[in-house]
Amino acid sequence: MADSTDKPTARTESDLPLEAVYDASSLQGFDPDDRLGKPGAYPFTRGVYPTMYTGRPWTMRQYAGFGTARESNQRYHELVNAGTGGLSVAFDLPTQMGYDSDAPLASGEVGKVGVAVDSLDDMRVLFDGLPLDKVSTSMTINAPASTLLLMYQLVAAEQGVAAGQLTGTIQNDVLKEYIARGTYIYPPAQSLRLISDIFAYCNKEIPRWNTISISGYHMAEAGATPVQEIAFTLANAKAYVQAAIDAGLDVDAFAPRLSFFFVARTTLIEEVAKFRAARRIWARIMRDEFGAKNPKSQMLRFHTQTAGVQLTAQQPEVNLIRVSLQGLAAVLGGTQSLHTNSFDEAIALPTQKAARLALRTQQVIAFETDVCKTVDPFAGSYVVESLTNDIEEAVWELLTKVDDLGGAVPAIEQGFQKSEIERSAYATQLKTDSGERTVVGLNKFTIDQEEHYDPLRVDPQIEVDQCERLAELRKNRDNGAVEAGLDGLRTAAEGSGTNLLIPMKEALEAGATGGEVSNALRDVWGQYVPRDAF
Ligand code: 3HC
Repeated sequence: MADSTDKPTARTESDLPLEAVYDASSLQGFDPDDRLGKPGAYPFTRGVYPTMYTGRPWTMRQYAGFGTARESNQRYHELVNAGTGGLSVAFDLPTQMGYDSDAPLASGEVGKVGVAVDSLDDMRVLFDGLPLDKVSTSMTINAPASTLLLMYQLVAAEQGVAAGQLTGTIQNDVLKEYIARGTYIYPPAQSLRLISDIFAYCNKEIPRWNTISISGYHMAEAGATPVQEIAFTLANAKAYVQAAIDAGLDVDAFAPRLSFFFVARTTLIEEVAKFRAARRIWARIMRDEFGAKNPKSQMLRFHTQTAGVQLTAQQPEVNLIRVSLQGLAAVLGGTQSLHTNSFDEAIALPTQKAARLALRTQQVIAFETDVCKTVDPFAGSYVVESLTNDIEEAVWELLTKVDDLGGAVPAIEQGFQKSEIERSAYATQLKTDSGERTVVGLNKFTIDQEEHYDPLRVDPQIEVDQCERLAELRKNRDNGAVEAGLDGLRTAAEGSGTNLLIPMKEALEAGATGGEVSNALRDVWGQYVPRDAF
């Protein structure tokens, strides 16, 4: 904690004190060997790699996807040509919810917030001309993550790329979907079984694949403070680790392929401290609570996306400055992969020019500033080390509260995380509405007449085309083989002990669609209905 001055103490986004002046007294008793360590070594406070960006910049990984597989494929080629380092697939809601484009519930959503992928054929088109042995691909898919991963593996095999060469990530984090994002399908216990099956399958078949991206981003976007974002994410992570161990997996067999995903807010100093505290806490949890021996099991590797909720539709160009500062916060905090939002995203899907500017923002940070020339530049800073300590302490306290409720899953079933986040969101909204919290262009420095802006619109013809493709596929495939594959999946799901990805892959190879695979599991497990807590 800092020494007192006569100025009133400001508060951080986590409602922690932010002193006007920090000095050596703020770090009394601070033991750099214990609290900092070396970059790339336990407790990883200073970063997960010894050389960090001096060795290689973070992956510039822009989340993209809309309309049909063909349109998204074109955007991926544009991004690769513009210098992006990794792909990041946005799927439309029907795909994320395990429905085919011709399902009644899919109507109006096909190709809207992401790309529609119903079948192996769509996946083939999506990655047409992209070398899957060279690009690393992130897929933001949760409940049906196993299906899309297997489709990706099957399409790569058609390109002659062996599963062992594939690199990428599936988000596969259903617990945060119950808390904040909503694209869940099955009840928690069955979801955890599927997730553990993915861990086991990838450990054997796709060893370089990151099997999960345990996300705080969506909870942050729903209103979680930085402390809540880290605490609830790590609580979910502990639940995944425990489920995999209970399924018989050795912690060091799967933990090196766990990854994380956080937000970067405009409050740069607190965000840098947040990332550094998160690494130190996770390292201790994995070593001391789960007995992980492999340093790669103790490393918190993460992706960051700049804060979508902090974009304004008013004076949208101001978002370019916000995203630059948020991107800088992520880099100073040691991110491994970064998505910078497009300045027009508060209005609609990003135009190509806006998407390119978002990538250029990262390139300016990486190649025009000096932040890649030295590791963890804030190390030893009075304010950042103090705030890292304060955030760490607050996160441990909140983690203990979740543990006292029985862990992340029982806490979710009691609605604890959801109600805590809603309370924070409400408090933030009150501060914005009152003007206590400045949002430039929204409640301060406004203009009378907003300039017109022509956003990108998604063509409704997409839904018609996608449904015709599905009808064609179902007409030309061996429906007997498909039904046999789906029955095999149902039988395996009814029992225990069979890794579900094995029968799932057989069904997909026979021509089953993503929706049919998800429906086969719905037939056995049903659909989760959350209990609302007040
Ligand atoms: N020294 C030594 N090695 C280094 C290095 C260094 N300085 N920097 C990188 N490397 C190595 C790494 O060890 C790795 O090798 P390995 O795979 O053999 O271990 C390789 O270079 C690649 O480096 P990273 O793994 O650090 O970088 P990646 O980009 O490949 O992976 C990740 C980053 C965070 C681990 C991974 O999980 C990832 O890419 N996540 C992305 C998730 C994502 O994009 N999510 C989008 C969500 S959008 C969403 O949710 C929807 C919307 O609503 C927000």
